[in-house]
Amino acid sequence: MTRRLVIAVDGPAAAGKGTLAKRLAQALDLPYLDTGLLYRATGRRMIDAGHDPAQGEAQEFAASVGLEDLSRTDLRVPEVDRAASLVAAQPAVRRVLVDVQRRFAGEHGAVLDGRDIGTVIFPDASVKLFITASPRTRATRRWEQLATDPHAPDREDQITRVEREIEARDMADSSRAVAPLRAAGDAVRIETDGLSADEVLAEALRIVARMTR
Ligand code: DC
Repeated sequence: MTRRLVIAVDGPAAAGKGTLAKRLAQALDLPYLDTGLLYRATGRRMIDAGHDPAQGEAQEFAASVGLEDLSRTDLRVPEVDRAASLVAAQPAVRRVLVDVQRRFAGEHGAVLDGRDIGTVIFPDASVKLFITASPRTRATRRWEQLATDPHAPDREDQITRVEREIEARDMADSSRAVAPLRAAGDAVRIETDGLSADEVLAEALRIVARMTR
């Protein structure tokens, strides 16, 4: 019987972990879950219901989130960035969402990306990867995804603004009391500055092969 493979891919925003996790899942024929979407869907439901994401009752909204919410197209907008970060700091919300994430990996395993997969959700994951890049690289990648004019004369200023937002979000995600963003002691770090998506995937597959031999 093959071993149930759970691969944890953690790291800060826009480091390339989503791209990697998706491609890794495809290469290894495993289901893939972007766990940030669970926090985003919770924030989205609160906004839609006219609730303040910083206030209580967020766990009731988290409990009503299902996998079908994750295909909504309105989860990656600035108001939901903020709402997700606020609900993710609430212990009751995280408790509710632990079960969804553990059940997802089920009997067949999965690749999950997030902030606390290797530290909290699957502390005994077969492989833990921690994906990082400098704030400037991450801001440039995020800006390039969103830019309406790639030749905008104020490109550098715009990237600097994105960099500030990314640094503020890193600070909030790393300094919160519950499940802060940090690498598990047994995670393997991949620094993606200067690497293409193919190179990151190749490095991750080498690590998986080494650790699952
Ligand atoms: O990865 P993302 O930007 O979609 O994540 C949205 C928010 O949810 C972000 O503030 C970090 C938080 N998050 C978390 O606390 N734990 C996770 N496993 C995934 C995301």
